Amino acid sequence: MSEGVERTLVLIKPDGVMRGLMGRIITRFEEKGLKIVAMKMMKVTNELAEKHYEQHKGKPFFEGLINYITSAPIVAMVVEGKNAIACVRKMVGATNPQEAEPGTIRHDYAMDIGRNLIHASDSPETAKREIELFFNESEILNYERCDVDWVYE
Ligand code: RTP
Ligand code: MG
Repeated sequence: MSEGVERTLVLIKPDGVMRGLMGRIITRFEEKGLKIVAMKMMKVTNELAEKHYEQHKGKPFFEGLINYITSAPIVAMVVEGKNAIACVRKMVGATNPQEAEPGTIRHDYAMDIGRNLIHASDSPETAKREIELFFNESEILNYERCDVDWVYE
């Protein structure tokens, strides 16, 4: 990957799938100019959920969070682009949709912190760890979008 280009893990959580918001959420990343380099629908097992959210183990919302993320299928994606980790976090918005800015996914489509539609990695270390949890290296694709020279200078 060239300099400044990062990969981040994005999950459309069960509410996004159940509410029929997959397409609209994916479209936001495509329209921004970010590149989706891996994507699959899956059911998160308890084991994977507990690994993914291990930093929250012991917190009062942990059990509810595990029940939520395992309750229905999700979409997992690896999103690539310049400064992608911070860029996607900005597009996702504050954890609590009531505090998220207009124009962010959580503001525009969600109401409650426990139904906040989407996950995105929060640092380069987390992104690496989370991508490895959800994807094999062979599932991550190498290709160039045909508009790359119109997205980047
Ligand atoms: P995520 O990891 O899902 O992208 O969300 P985040 O970084 O914005 O928030 P984080 O602090 O990592 O929390 C993970 C998820 O746990 C639920 N949560 N509930 N009831 C609560 O106080 C509370 N706090 C967090 C949310 O679903 C949050 O996305
Ligand atoms: Mg988090």
